[in-house]
Amino acid sequence: MLRTLLCSERIGPVAGTVTITADAQHHMDKFIIRGGNRLSGSVAVSGAKNASLALMPATLLADGVCRLENTPRLRDITTMSTLLETMGVEVRHPGTIIELDTSNIRSYEAPYDLVKKMRASFYVLGPLLGRFGYAKVSYPGGCAWGPRPVDLHLKAMQKLGAEIEIEAGYVIAKADRLRGADISFDISSVGATGNALMAAVLAKGTTVIRNAATEPEITQLALFLQRMGAHIDGIGGNCLVIEGVETLHSANDKNIPDRIEAGTYLAAAAATGGEVRLERVDPSQLTVVLSKFREAGCEIETGEDHVTLRAPERLEAVNVTTAIYPGFPTDMQAQWMAMMAVAQGSTVVTDTVYFDRFNHVPELQRLGAHIDVTKNTAVIHGLDRLTGATVMSTDLRASASLLIAGLVAKGNTEVLRVYHIDRGYEAIELKLRDLGADIQRVDSEEY
Ligand code: UD1
Repeated sequence: MLRTLLCSERIGPVAGTVTITADAQHHMDKFIIRGGNRLSGSVAVSGAKNASLALMPATLLADGVCRLENTPRLRDITTMSTLLETMGVEVRHPGTIIELDTSNIRSYEAPYDLVKKMRASFYVLGPLLGRFGYAKVSYPGGCAWGPRPVDLHLKAMQKLGAEIEIEAGYVIAKADRLRGADISFDISSVGATGNALMAAVLAKGTTVIRNAATEPEITQLALFLQRMGAHIDGIGGNCLVIEGVETLHSANDKNIPDRIEAGTYLAAAAATGGEVRLERVDPSQLTVVLSKFREAGCEIETGEDHVTLRAPERLEAVNVTTAIYPGFPTDMQAQWMAMMAVAQGSTVVTDTVYFDRFNHVPELQRLGAHIDVTKNTAVIHGLDRLTGATVMSTDLRASASLLIAGLVAKGNTEVLRVYHIDRGYEAIELKLRDLGADIQRVDSEEY
Protein backbone atom coordinates (compact mmCIF):
# COMPACT_ATOMS: atom_id res chain seq x y z
CA MET A 1 0.00 0.00 0.00
CA LEU A 2 2.76 2.36 1.02
CA ARG A 3 4.42 2.01 -2.32
CA THR A 4 1.22 2.41 -4.27
CA LEU A 5 0.84 5.79 -2.65
CA LEU A 6 4.38 6.93 -2.71
CA CYS A 7 6.15 5.28 -5.56
CA SER A 8 3.82 4.08 -8.25
CA GLU A 9 4.55 6.83 -10.72
CA ARG A 10 8.17 7.16 -10.00
CA ILE A 11 9.70 3.74 -10.39
CA GLY A 12 12.50 3.96 -12.91
CA PRO A 13 13.39 1.90 -15.96
CA VAL A 14 12.89 -1.40 -14.13
CA ALA A 15 9.24 -0.66 -13.40
CA GLY A 16 8.14 -3.84 -15.11
CA THR A 17 9.85 -5.95 -12.50
CA VAL A 18 8.43 -4.13 -9.49
CA THR A 19 5.48 -5.54 -7.62
CA ILE A 20 3.65 -2.83 -5.78
CA THR A 21 1.32 -4.21 -3.14
CA ALA A 22 1.87 -7.77 -1.91
CA ASP A 23 3.66 -7.80 1.40
CA ALA A 24 5.27 -11.15 0.71
CA GLN A 25 6.70 -9.85 -2.52
CA HIS A 26 7.80 -6.71 -0.77
CA HIS A 27 10.05 -8.87 1.40
CA MET A 28 11.93 -9.87 -1.70
CA ASP A 29 12.75 -6.36 -2.89
CA LYS A 30 16.33 -5.32 -3.29
CA PHE A 31 18.03 -2.07 -4.11
CA ILE A 32 20.46 -1.72 -6.98
CA ILE A 33 22.75 1.24 -6.60
CA ARG A 34 25.29 2.48 -9.09
CA GLY A 35 27.79 4.35 -6.96
CA GLY A 36 29.73 7.49 -7.70
CA ASN A 37 27.09 10.24 -7.92
CA ARG A 38 27.52 13.23 -5.65
CA LEU A 39 24.27 13.89 -3.86
CA SER A 40 22.92 17.39 -4.10
CA GLY A 41 19.59 19.07 -3.52
CA SER A 42 17.06 19.23 -0.74
CA VAL A 43 15.13 16.58 1.12
CA ALA A 44 12.16 16.82 3.49
CA VAL A 45 12.60 14.92 6.71
CA SER A 46 9.64 12.73 7.78
CA GLY A 47 8.09 12.45 11.22
CA ALA A 48 10.06 10.60 13.88
CA LYS A 49 9.37 6.86 13.78
CA ASN A 50 10.37 6.28 17.39
CA ALA A 51 8.20 9.12 18.66
CA SER A 52 5.18 7.83 16.70
CA LEU A 53 5.71 4.36 18.10
CA ALA A 54 5.26 5.82 21.60
CA LEU A 55 2.46 8.28 20.78
CA MET A 56 0.27 5.67 19.11
CA PRO A 57 0.00 3.30 22.11
CA ALA A 58 -0.40 6.32 24.41
CA THR A 59 -3.82 6.86 22.79
CA LEU A 60 -4.96 3.65 24.59
CA LEU A 61 -5.03 5.73 27.77
CA ALA A 62 -8.29 7.49 26.91
CA ASP A 63 -11.54 7.01 25.02
CA GLY A 64 -12.00 8.94 21.79
CA VAL A 65 -10.25 10.02 18.63
CA CYS A 66 -6.63 11.24 18.62
CA ARG A 67 -5.15 12.84 15.54
CA LEU A 68 -1.38 12.77 15.17
CA GLU A 69 0.15 14.88 12.42
CA ASN A 70 3.48 14.11 10.81
CA THR A 71 3.24 10.36 11.34
CA PRO A 72 5.55 8.70 8.80
CA ARG A 73 4.33 6.00 6.43
CA LEU A 74 6.52 3.09 7.43
CA ARG A 75 6.31 -0.63 8.03
CA ASP A 76 6.82 -0.18 11.78
CA ILE A 77 3.93 2.25 11.91
CA THR A 78 1.76 -0.25 10.01
CA THR A 79 2.78 -2.95 12.51
CA MET A 80 1.80 -0.72 15.43
CA SER A 81 -1.50 0.11 13.69
CA THR A 82 -2.22 -3.59 13.19
CA LEU A 83 -1.44 -4.30 16.82
CA LEU A 84 -3.76 -1.55 18.03
CA GLU A 85 -6.44 -2.73 15.60
CA THR A 86 -6.35 -6.22 17.13
CA MET A 87 -7.29 -4.50 20.40
CA GLY A 88 -10.24 -2.72 18.83
CA VAL A 89 -8.69 0.64 17.96
CA GLU A 90 -9.86 2.02 14.62
CA VAL A 91 -6.93 3.42 12.70
CA ARG A 92 -6.93 5.64 9.62
CA HIS A 93 -3.69 6.86 8.14
CA PRO A 94 -4.36 8.99 5.10
CA GLY A 95 -1.19 10.83 4.08
CA THR A 96 0.90 11.76 7.08
CA ILE A 97 -1.94 12.21 9.56
CA ILE A 98 -2.95 9.22 11.61
CA GLU A 99 -6.27 9.05 13.44
CA LEU A 100 -6.83 6.53 16.20
CA ASP A 101 -10.27 5.92 17.64
CA THR A 102 -9.97 4.11 20.96
CA SER A 103 -13.69 4.09 21.82
CA ASN A 104 -14.13 0.32 21.43
CA ILE A 105 -11.14 -1.42 22.98
CA ARG A 106 -11.98 -5.09 23.49
CA SER A 107 -8.63 -6.84 23.95
CA TYR A 108 -5.64 -6.19 26.15
CA GLU A 109 -3.28 -8.54 24.43
CA ALA A 110 -0.22 -8.08 22.19
CA PRO A 111 0.31 -11.35 20.31
CA TYR A 112 3.69 -12.91 19.60
CA ASP A 113 3.17 -12.60 15.83
CA LEU A 114 3.31 -8.82 16.06
CA VAL A 115 5.76 -8.38 18.93
CA LYS A 116 8.30 -10.58 17.15
CA LYS A 117 8.10 -8.25 14.14
CA MET A 118 8.70 -5.17 16.24
CA ARG A 119 9.91 -4.86 19.80
CA ALA A 120 8.32 -1.43 20.24
CA SER A 121 5.02 -3.35 20.49
CA PHE A 122 6.02 -3.72 24.14
CA TYR A 123 4.94 -0.09 24.58
CA VAL A 124 1.31 -1.21 24.95
CA LEU A 125 2.14 -2.74 28.35
CA GLY A 126 2.17 0.52 30.34
CA PRO A 127 -0.99 2.13 28.95
CA LEU A 128 -3.06 -1.10 29.08
CA LEU A 129 -2.04 -1.79 32.63
CA GLY A 130 -2.58 1.82 33.70
CA ARG A 131 -6.02 2.08 32.18
CA PHE A 132 -7.48 -1.43 32.35
CA GLY A 133 -5.42 -3.04 35.11
CA TYR A 134 -4.48 -5.92 32.84
CA ALA A 135 -2.11 -6.56 29.95
CA LYS A 136 -0.90 -9.69 28.23
CA VAL A 137 2.07 -8.89 26.06
CA SER A 138 4.33 -11.36 24.31
CA TYR A 139 7.80 -11.38 25.81
CA PRO A 140 10.12 -10.00 23.11
CA GLY A 141 12.95 -12.31 22.07
CA GLY A 142 16.44 -11.15 21.14
CA CYS A 143 16.99 -8.67 18.39
CA ALA A 144 19.15 -8.85 15.27
CA TRP A 145 22.25 -7.64 17.11
CA GLY A 146 21.84 -9.47 20.39
CA PRO A 147 19.85 -9.68 23.60
CA ARG A 148 17.67 -6.70 24.43
CA PRO A 149 16.14 -7.24 27.84
CA VAL A 150 12.89 -5.74 29.14
CA ASP A 151 13.71 -6.20 32.84
CA LEU A 152 13.61 -2.46 33.51
CA HIS A 153 10.10 -2.19 32.03
CA LEU A 154 8.89 -5.02 34.23
CA LYS A 155 10.56 -3.72 37.38
CA ALA A 156 8.93 -0.34 36.85
CA MET A 157 5.48 -1.95 36.52
CA GLN A 158 6.10 -3.96 39.70
CA LYS A 159 7.13 -0.80 41.54
CA LEU A 160 3.82 0.72 40.47
CA GLY A 161 2.08 -2.21 42.14
CA ALA A 162 1.56 -4.63 39.24
CA GLU A 163 1.79 -8.38 39.62
CA ILE A 164 3.83 -9.83 36.81
CA GLU A 165 3.83 -13.43 35.64
CA ILE A 166 5.56 -14.97 32.69
CA GLU A 167 3.41 -17.65 31.11
CA ALA A 168 4.00 -19.46 27.83
CA GLY A 169 6.12 -16.67 26.44
CA TYR A 170 3.78 -13.93 27.58
CA VAL A 171 4.10 -11.25 30.22
CA ILE A 172 0.85 -11.09 32.15
CA ALA A 173 0.56 -7.94 34.23
CA LYS A 174 -2.29 -7.25 36.64
CA ALA A 175 -3.18 -4.52 39.11
CA ASP A 176 -6.41 -3.19 40.61
CA ARG A 177 -5.14 0.32 40.29
CA LEU A 178 -1.51 1.26 39.96
CA ARG A 179 -0.10 3.41 42.74
CA GLY A 180 2.56 6.07 42.48
CA ALA A 181 6.12 4.96 43.23
CA ASP A 182 9.73 6.04 43.22
CA ILE A 183 11.32 4.42 40.19
CA SER A 184 15.06 4.70 39.77
CA PHE A 185 16.47 3.18 36.60
CA ASP A 186 19.98 1.68 36.76
CA ILE A 187 20.34 2.24 33.00
CA SER A 188 18.80 5.08 31.05
CA SER A 189 16.25 3.35 28.81
CA VAL A 190 14.02 5.00 26.23
CA GLY A 191 11.47 2.19 26.18
CA ALA A 192 11.33 1.61 29.93
CA THR A 193 10.93 5.35 30.59
CA GLY A 194 8.11 5.55 28.03
CA ASN A 195 6.33 2.53 29.46
CA ALA A 196 6.69 3.72 33.06
CA LEU A 197 5.44 7.16 32.10
CA MET A 198 2.38 5.79 30.32
CA ALA A 199 1.57 3.57 33.28
CA ALA A 200 2.14 6.26 35.92
CA VAL A 201 -0.12 8.96 34.47
CA LEU A 202 -3.21 7.05 35.65
CA ALA A 203 -1.71 5.69 38.89
CA LYS A 204 -2.97 6.85 42.28
CA GLY A 205 -0.54 9.35 43.75
CA THR A 206 2.89 10.61 42.79
CA THR A 207 5.48 8.77 40.73
CA VAL A 208 9.08 9.86 40.41
CA ILE A 209 11.12 8.44 37.52
CA ARG A 210 14.83 8.92 38.13
CA ASN A 211 17.49 8.48 35.46
CA ALA A 212 14.67 8.89 32.93
CA ALA A 213 15.62 8.92 29.26
CA THR A 214 15.83 12.45 27.85
CA GLU A 215 15.61 11.50 24.18
CA PRO A 216 13.39 13.95 22.23
CA GLU A 217 10.99 11.08 21.50
CA ILE A 218 10.31 10.70 25.24
CA THR A 219 9.89 14.44 25.63
CA GLN A 220 7.40 14.35 22.77
CA LEU A 221 5.52 11.51 24.49
CA ALA A 222 5.39 13.41 27.79
CA LEU A 223 4.07 16.53 26.04
CA PHE A 224 1.38 14.47 24.32
CA LEU A 225 0.37 12.88 27.64
CA GLN A 226 0.08 16.38 29.07
CA ARG A 227 -2.24 17.32 26.23
CA MET A 228 -4.34 14.32 27.24
CA GLY A 229 -4.61 15.76 30.74
CA ALA A 230 -1.64 14.14 32.50
CA HIS A 231 0.30 16.04 35.16
CA ILE A 232 4.02 15.69 34.49
CA ASP A 233 6.85 17.87 35.80
CA GLY A 234 10.44 17.93 34.65
CA ILE A 235 9.72 17.16 30.99
CA GLY A 236 12.96 17.10 28.99
CA GLY A 237 15.04 16.32 32.07
CA ASN A 238 16.12 13.05 33.64
CA CYS A 239 13.81 13.24 36.64
CA LEU A 240 10.12 13.11 35.83
CA VAL A 241 7.49 13.69 38.49
CA ILE A 242 4.01 12.47 37.66
CA GLU A 243 0.89 13.25 39.63
CA GLY A 244 -1.58 10.53 38.70
CA VAL A 245 -5.07 11.55 37.51
CA GLU A 246 -8.35 9.58 37.44
CA THR A 247 -8.89 9.80 33.69
CA LEU A 248 -7.35 11.25 30.57
CA HIS A 249 -9.04 12.53 27.42
CA SER A 250 -8.18 12.18 23.75
CA ALA A 251 -5.96 14.86 22.21
CA ASN A 252 -4.24 15.85 18.98
CA ASP A 253 -0.57 16.50 18.41
CA LYS A 254 2.08 17.11 15.79
CA ASN A 255 5.02 14.76 15.78
CA ILE A 256 8.65 15.91 15.80
CA PRO A 257 10.99 15.29 12.82
CA ASP A 258 13.05 12.12 12.63
CA ARG A 259 16.55 13.07 13.78
CA ILE A 260 18.00 9.73 12.68
CA GLU A 261 16.55 9.95 9.19
CA ALA A 262 17.96 13.48 9.04
CA GLY A 263 21.40 12.28 10.13
CA THR A 264 21.30 9.48 7.58
CA TYR A 265 20.79 11.88 4.66
CA LEU A 266 23.58 14.09 5.98
CA ALA A 267 25.85 11.04 6.10
CA ALA A 268 24.89 10.02 2.55
CA ALA A 269 25.60 13.52 1.24
CA ALA A 270 28.86 13.79 3.16
CA ALA A 271 30.13 10.38 2.02
CA THR A 272 29.55 11.27 -1.63
CA GLY A 273 31.23 14.68 -1.34
CA GLY A 274 27.85 16.31 -1.92
CA GLU A 275 25.68 19.09 -0.68
CA VAL A 276 22.26 18.74 0.88
CA ARG A 277 19.61 20.88 2.46
CA LEU A 278 17.34 19.16 4.96
CA GLU A 279 13.89 20.67 5.33
CA ARG A 280 11.47 20.20 8.23
CA VAL A 281 14.19 19.19 10.65
CA ASP A 282 14.95 20.31 14.20
CA PRO A 283 18.69 21.15 14.33
CA SER A 284 18.58 21.47 18.12
CA GLN A 285 18.08 17.69 18.31
CA LEU A 286 21.19 17.08 16.22
CA THR A 287 23.75 19.23 18.01
CA VAL A 288 26.35 16.55 18.67
CA VAL A 289 25.86 14.89 15.29
CA LEU A 290 26.27 18.21 13.47
CA SER A 291 29.44 19.01 15.41
CA LYS A 292 30.87 15.65 14.32
CA PHE A 293 30.10 16.47 10.67
CA ARG A 294 31.87 19.82 11.14
CA GLU A 295 34.91 18.05 12.61
CA ALA A 296 34.94 15.81 9.55
CA GLY A 297 35.33 18.91 7.39
CA CYS A 298 31.72 19.58 6.38
CA GLU A 299 30.31 23.08 6.29
CA ILE A 300 27.07 23.13 8.23
CA GLU A 301 24.48 25.86 8.39
CA THR A 302 21.36 25.67 10.46
CA GLY A 303 18.12 27.61 10.53
CA GLU A 304 15.02 27.14 12.62
CA ASP A 305 13.83 24.09 10.70
CA HIS A 306 16.54 23.40 8.16
CA VAL A 307 20.16 22.25 7.92
CA THR A 308 22.54 22.50 5.00
CA LEU A 309 25.68 20.43 4.67
CA ARG A 310 28.50 20.96 2.17
CA ALA A 311 31.04 18.16 2.15
CA PRO A 312 34.79 18.58 1.58
CA GLU A 313 36.60 16.74 -1.24
CA ARG A 314 37.66 14.14 1.30
CA LEU A 315 36.25 13.66 4.79
CA GLU A 316 38.55 13.65 7.80
CA ALA A 317 38.45 10.67 10.15
CA VAL A 318 36.43 11.54 13.28
CA ASN A 319 35.99 9.17 16.22
CA VAL A 320 32.59 8.71 17.78
CA THR A 321 31.37 7.05 20.96
CA THR A 322 27.66 6.48 21.18
CA ALA A 323 25.83 7.64 24.28
CA ILE A 324 22.36 8.46 25.50
CA TYR A 325 20.87 11.76 24.36
CA PRO A 326 22.25 14.32 23.75
CA GLY A 327 25.29 12.17 22.92
CA PHE A 328 26.01 10.62 19.53
CA PRO A 329 23.09 8.25 18.86
CA THR A 330 23.68 4.52 18.54
CA ASP A 331 21.14 4.68 15.70
CA MET A 332 23.70 6.73 13.69
CA GLN A 333 26.69 4.52 14.42
CA ALA A 334 26.43 2.28 11.34
CA GLN A 335 25.93 5.21 8.96
CA TRP A 336 28.94 7.00 10.47
CA MET A 337 31.05 3.91 9.91
CA ALA A 338 30.05 3.74 6.24
CA MET A 339 31.09 7.37 5.84
CA MET A 340 34.38 6.86 7.63
CA ALA A 341 35.15 3.88 5.38
CA VAL A 342 36.05 6.47 2.71
CA ALA A 343 37.52 9.15 4.99
CA GLN A 344 41.16 10.24 5.25
CA GLY A 345 42.74 8.28 8.11
CA SER A 346 41.56 5.85 10.74
CA THR A 347 38.45 6.20 12.87
CA VAL A 348 37.52 4.61 16.17
CA VAL A 349 33.80 3.97 16.68
CA THR A 350 32.66 2.71 20.08
CA ASP A 351 29.08 1.74 20.90
CA THR A 352 28.39 2.03 24.62
CA VAL A 353 24.61 1.62 24.26
CA TYR A 354 24.53 -1.69 22.37
CA PHE A 355 27.76 -3.61 22.73
CA ASP A 356 27.04 -6.04 19.88
CA ARG A 357 25.66 -3.70 17.26
CA PHE A 358 28.12 -4.49 14.48
CA ASN A 359 26.18 -6.66 12.03
CA HIS A 360 26.88 -4.17 9.27
CA VAL A 361 30.64 -4.68 9.54
CA PRO A 362 30.96 -7.97 7.58
CA GLU A 363 28.69 -6.53 4.88
CA LEU A 364 30.70 -3.29 4.66
CA GLN A 365 33.79 -5.51 4.39
CA ARG A 366 32.20 -7.18 1.34
CA LEU A 367 32.27 -3.73 -0.23
CA GLY A 368 35.99 -3.52 0.53
CA ALA A 369 35.89 -1.51 3.76
CA HIS A 370 38.80 -2.05 6.15
CA ILE A 371 37.28 -2.49 9.61
CA ASP A 372 38.51 -4.35 12.69
CA VAL A 373 36.17 -4.98 15.59
CA THR A 374 37.27 -5.73 19.14
CA LYS A 375 34.50 -6.00 21.71
CA ASN A 376 32.33 -2.90 21.27
CA THR A 377 34.89 -0.89 19.32
CA ALA A 378 35.49 -0.79 15.59
CA VAL A 379 38.53 0.72 13.90
CA ILE A 380 37.89 1.85 10.34
CA HIS A 381 40.83 2.45 8.04
CA GLY A 382 39.66 4.93 5.42
CA LEU A 383 40.09 4.07 1.74
CA ASP A 384 39.78 6.11 -1.46
CA ARG A 385 36.86 4.10 -2.64
CA LEU A 386 34.74 1.02 -1.95
CA THR A 387 33.82 -1.55 -4.58
CA GLY A 388 30.24 -2.61 -5.40
CA ALA A 389 29.03 -6.08 -4.39
CA THR A 390 25.89 -7.86 -3.23
CA VAL A 391 25.26 -7.31 0.46
CA MET A 392 22.51 -8.15 2.89
CA SER A 393 20.55 -5.95 5.25
CA THR A 394 20.44 -7.32 8.77
CA ASP A 395 18.63 -4.53 10.59
CA LEU A 396 17.33 -1.06 9.99
CA ARG A 397 20.38 1.13 10.56
CA ALA A 398 22.75 -1.50 9.18
CA SER A 399 20.84 -1.30 5.90
CA ALA A 400 21.11 2.48 5.88
CA SER A 401 24.87 2.13 6.19
CA LEU A 402 24.94 -0.27 3.25
CA LEU A 403 23.05 2.17 1.06
CA ILE A 404 25.52 4.92 1.96
CA ALA A 405 28.43 2.60 1.19
CA GLY A 406 26.78 1.60 -2.09
CA LEU A 407 26.48 5.26 -3.07
CA VAL A 408 30.26 5.69 -2.84
CA ALA A 409 31.28 2.27 -4.16
CA LYS A 410 32.65 1.80 -7.64
CA GLY A 411 30.19 -0.10 -9.82
CA ASN A 412 26.94 -1.72 -8.77
CA THR A 413 25.90 -2.61 -5.24
CA GLU A 414 22.87 -4.78 -4.59
CA VAL A 415 21.33 -4.53 -1.14
CA LEU A 416 19.10 -7.49 -0.32
CA ARG A 417 16.33 -7.73 2.28
CA VAL A 418 15.34 -4.12 2.09
CA TYR A 419 12.26 -4.78 4.23
CA HIS A 420 14.54 -3.79 7.08
CA ILE A 421 15.00 -0.35 5.61
CA ASP A 422 11.28 0.03 4.90
CA ARG A 423 10.68 -0.30 8.64
CA GLY A 424 12.19 3.09 9.27
CA TYR A 425 12.84 5.17 6.14
CA GLU A 426 9.95 6.65 4.22
CA ALA A 427 10.38 6.37 0.45
CA ILE A 428 14.15 6.29 0.79
CA GLU A 429 14.93 5.48 -2.83
CA LEU A 430 12.76 8.35 -4.01
CA LYS A 431 14.37 10.81 -1.64
CA LEU A 432 17.84 9.61 -2.65
CA ARG A 433 16.97 9.73 -6.33
CA ASP A 434 15.78 13.31 -5.92
CA LEU A 435 19.26 14.05 -4.60
CA GLY A 436 20.79 12.53 -7.71
CA ALA A 437 21.51 8.97 -6.56
CA ASP A 438 21.30 6.14 -9.06
CA ILE A 439 19.16 3.70 -7.06
CA GLN A 440 16.38 1.34 -8.11
CA ARG A 441 14.08 -0.90 -6.13
CA VAL A 442 13.50 -4.19 -7.88
CA ASP A 443 11.76 -7.41 -7.09
CA SER A 444 14.27 -10.15 -6.43
CA GLU A 445 14.42 -13.92 -6.20
CA GLU A 446 17.32 -13.66 -3.79
CA TYR A 447 16.56 -13.57 -0.12
C1 UD1 B 1 15.11 2.86 21.60
C2 UD1 B 1 14.96 3.06 20.10
C3 UD1 B 1 16.16 2.48 19.37
C4 UD1 B 1 17.47 3.05 19.94
C5 UD1 B 1 17.52 2.91 21.46
C6 UD1 B 1 18.71 3.60 22.07
C7 UD1 B 1 12.56 2.97 19.85
C8 UD1 B 1 11.37 2.24 19.34
N1 UD1 B 1 13.75 2.41 19.68
O1 UD1 B 1 15.14 1.45 21.83
O2 UD1 B 1 16.03 2.81 18.00
O3 UD1 B 1 18.56 2.38 19.37
O4 UD1 B 1 16.33 3.47 22.04
O5 UD1 B 1 18.68 4.96 21.77
O6 UD1 B 1 12.43 4.05 20.37
N2 UD1 B 1 18.02 -2.12 28.63
C9 UD1 B 1 18.03 -3.04 29.67
N3 UD1 B 1 16.84 -3.44 30.19
C10 UD1 B 1 15.64 -2.96 29.75
C11 UD1 B 1 15.65 -2.02 28.68
C12 UD1 B 1 16.86 -1.63 28.15
O7 UD1 B 1 19.08 -3.49 30.09
O8 UD1 B 1 14.59 -3.36 30.28
C13 UD1 B 1 19.30 -1.68 28.04
C14 UD1 B 1 19.45 -2.07 26.59
O9 UD1 B 1 19.93 -3.38 26.43
C15 UD1 B 1 20.43 -1.02 26.09
C16 UD1 B 1 20.06 0.22 26.90
O10 UD1 B 1 19.30 -0.27 28.01
O11 UD1 B 1 21.74 -1.38 26.37
C17 UD1 B 1 19.26 1.25 26.17
O12 UD1 B 1 18.17 0.65 25.52
P1 UD1 B 1 16.76 1.40 25.39
O13 UD1 B 1 16.96 2.87 25.56
O14 UD1 B 1 15.78 0.73 26.27
O15 UD1 B 1 16.38 1.10 23.89
P2 UD1 B 1 14.94 0.87 23.29
O16 UD1 B 1 13.94 1.69 24.02
O17 UD1 B 1 14.70 -0.58 23.15
